[in-house]
Amino acid sequence: MAIPAGLLSVADLTAEEIRGLISRAASLKQGEAPSSLKGKAIALVFEKPSLRTRVSFDVAIWQLGGHAVYLSPEEVGLGKRESIPDVARTLSRFVDGIVGRTYSHQTLIELARHSRVPVINGLSDHEHPCQALGDLLTIHEKRGALKGLRLAYVGDGNNVARSLLLVASLAGMDFCIASPPGYGLDDATMGQAKASAAKSGARISVASDCRTAVKGAAVVYTDVWTSMGQESEAETRRRAFAAYQVDEPLLSLAGEDAILMHPLPAHHGEEVAEGLLDHPRSVVFDQAENRLHIQKAVLLRVLGGQAV
Ligand code: CP
Ligand code: NVA
Repeated sequence: MAIPAGLLSVADLTAEEIRGLISRAASLKQGEAPSSLKGKAIALVFEKPSLRTRVSFDVAIWQLGGHAVYLSPEEVGLGKRESIPDVARTLSRFVDGIVGRTYSHQTLIELARHSRVPVINGLSDHEHPCQALGDLLTIHEKRGALKGLRLAYVGDGNNVARSLLLVASLAGMDFCIASPPGYGLDDATMGQAKASAAKSGARISVASDCRTAVKGAAVVYTDVWTSMGQESEAETRRRAFAAYQVDEPLLSLAGEDAILMHPLPAHHGEEVAEGLLDHPRSVVFDQAENRLHIQKAVLLRVLGGQAV
C-alpha cells in the first residue's frame, strides 16, 4: 500500500516547498485564518514527553477548525499494548491524520506504512522536521533572508541537527557543525546535505572546534547533549561535551547581529551557560512560537487540500 503523503523527514520536501511553507506560515502569523481543517480530527500519538510540540499542534489544529486527540505514551503502548500496524489501521478509521513522536524513527515509518492517513513527524530519534522548518521561519524573520547566511551548530549531531542541516542545505544556507569526536552527524546525512547544497549553493562544513564554527556566524544554534531516550548516557556525554558549551565569550565571536537559537527544553549550565538564553541575542521563545505558525502551514499542506 502506498504511504499517504505526510511529513516524516525534511527529505520529503523540495526547496520550493520549503519556501512555500515559510511564506505561508508568515502570512498565517499575520492573521490569515482559514478553517480548512473543519470537520477533521488529528491524533497526536506521543511516546515521549513534550511541551511545545504537543501544545502548538493542539492549538494549531483548533485554530484551523479541526479537532486534536492526544494519546499519551501509557495510553497507546505502541508495539507493547498493541502492534504498530494495528494502531495505525485502527486510528485510520477514526482520524484524518496522525502526528507521531516516537523513540525510533522506524516506528514512525511503520506507523505511516500501515496508515491510510498521513503521518507527520513530531520528533523521532532521527529527525525533527517541524522544528527545523519553524527555525527557518525564525531566521528569515530575524535576518530577512536565508540564502548566504551561515549557521553554526555547536554540539550533538542529533535529530535536531540533522533536520536543520537538511533544511538549511535545501534553502541555500551555509551550515558549519562542531561536535566532539564520535558525536557528529553520520556520513549519509552529510552526503545528502552536500547533494542538496550542490544545487542550492549552500556551503556545508565540519569544524574541529566551536570557536572556528562560530566565528562570524549569523546564527549560533545548540541543543541538549543528552536527548530523550539517552538518559543512561548523560554522565558520559557531560564529559564528552564539556568543551562544547555555548557561553557569552563564544557567542561574542559570532557576527555583530548574530542570533542565538535553541529548540528547548534547555539544560541550563550544560549546552548553554546559565542565563545565556536571556541574552538580548537569544530568540528562543520566538522560535518556540513559530512552531505554531509553521505547523499550521504543514497541516494545511498535508491535510487541508492546499498545495503550499
Ligand atoms: N522543541 C520541542 O520539540 O519541544 P518539546 O519537546 O517540548 O515538544
Ligand atoms: N534533541 C532533543 C530535542 C528535543 C526537542 C531530544 O530529542 O530530546
